[in-house]
Amino acid sequence: MEQQIIFSNDIPQSLNTALGGLDYNKTVIITDVNTRQFVFPKIADVPVVKESPCIVINSGDINKTVETAATVWKQLETAAATRRTVVINIGGGVVTDLGGFAASVFKRGLRFINMPTTLLGAVDAAIGGKTGVNFGGLKNEIGVFNEACAVVVSTLFFDTLPPTELKSGYAEMLKHGLLSDRKYFADLLGYDITSGDRDTLLGLLKRSVTIKRDIVAADPHEHGLRRVLNLGHTAGHAFESLAMKRMKPVPHGYAVAWGLVVELILSHLIYKFPSDILYTVAHYVGDNYGTFTITCDDYDTLIALMRHDKKSRGGEINCSLLADVGEMRLGTDVSTDDAKAALDIYRDLLQ
Ligand SMILES: NC(=O)c1ccc[n+]([C@@H]2O[C@H](COP(=O)([O-])OP(=O)(O)OC[C@H]3O[C@@H](n4cnc5c(N)ncnc54)[C@H](O)[C@@H]3O)[C@@H](O)[C@H]2O)c1
Ligand SMILES: [Zn+2]
Repeated sequence: MEQQIIFSNDIPQSLNTALGGLDYNKTVIITDVNTRQFVFPKIADVPVVKESPCIVINSGDINKTVETAATVWKQLETAAATRRTVVINIGGGVVTDLGGFAASVFKRGLRFINMPTTLLGAVDAAIGGKTGVNFGGLKNEIGVFNEACAVVVSTLFFDTLPPTELKSGYAEMLKHGLLSDRKYFADLLGYDITSGDRDTLLGLLKRSVTIKRDIVAADPHEHGLRRVLNLGHTAGHAFESLAMKRMKPVPHGYAVAWGLVVELILSHLIYKFPSDILYTVAHYVGDNYGTFTITCDDYDTLIALMRHDKKSRGGEINCSLLADVGEMRLGTDVSTDDAKAALDIYRDLLQ
C-alpha cells in the first residue's frame, strides 16, 4: 500500500485520515517523557489520543536500545495488542526509530503511523522506512526497513523546541534544497527559522519531505541513489566525531551544515560546482551555525574519520557530491590531497 503523508496542522482530521483506510481493532501510542510533557497538552482532546493506551519511554538517543524496545513489547502485550493493532509513534526521531522497530517485529509486524514532533523527525527520521535501535556502542545497529503506513507532518509542535534543535533539522532541509533545484534552495535561504512563521515552514517541509520520499522510493534499501541523502554527512560525521573526542558534542545538523560546506568545496574542486552558490552557502552557514574551529593539526584525524565512514569502500574517502544544484554525483572517491585542500578552503571561508 502506498504510504500516506499528510501535511496539516489539523491533528484530529489528519489522524482520522491516516486511520481511515485501515482495518484495525485498536490503536496504541508510543511516545517519550519530554514529548509527553511538551506536546500532549496540545493534543489531549484529540479523540484517538484520549482513547489509546500510551506507552512512554525515556527521552534521548541513549535510550534508543533493545532494552527499551523490550519494555515496549511488554506493554504492547499488557495492552493486548494483536496483528490488527495500529501503533501511533508521537515524538522525535528516537520515538519513530524505536517505535517503528518495536512495532515492525512485534507479532511479526504491526502497522504504525508516525507523527513527528521535532523538525529533524519531520524532515528526516519519520520518513523513509529506516527503523532501529543502537546496540553494542553502534548507532542504529539493529533494525529493519519498514515504512510507516502514514506520516502526519505538522508544524504545530515546534514552538517548544529549542532554537538549536530547529536549526539542526533545518540543515537537512538545506541539503534537500541542494539536491533539488535553485528555486527551492533560494526559498529555504530566504526563510527565517527563528521567525515562528509555521505556515511557510509547513510549505517548505512539504517540498523537503517530497524530495526525500521520491529519492527513497527509487532506492528504498540504499543500494544506490538513496546515498545522495548523505550529502554533507561524510565530512559532517567526521566533525561530529571530532567534537565528541574533544568532549564538546555538537548537534547533528550543525555538523551537517559544516560538512555541506566542505563537500560543496570538494564538489567545486572535482566537478566545478558553481563557486557563487558555494560562497552563498558558506556565508549562510557561518551566519546561522557559526563555525567548527580546526587547525591543520586536526586534518589527519578528520581524514581518518572520513575514511572510516560507513559509506567508504576499501579505505578511500567516499562522498556524494554535486556538479550543480540538483545534479548528483554518487559515490565519488576523494583523494587525501583534495580533502586537505577542501579543509584549507573551509578554514578560509568560515574561520
Ligand atoms: N530513521 C532515519 O532515517 C533517521 C534519520 C535521521 C535521524 N534519525 C534518528 O533520529 C534521532 C534524532 O532525532 P531527534 O533530533 O528528533 O531527537 P529526539 O527524538 O531525541 O528529540 C530531541 C528531544 O526533543 C524532545 N522533543 C520531541 N518533540 C518535542 C517538542 N515538540 N517540544 C519539545 N521537546 C520535544 C525529545 O523528547 C528529546 O528530548 C536519532 O536517534 C537519529 O539516529 C533517524
Ligand atoms: Zn543527517
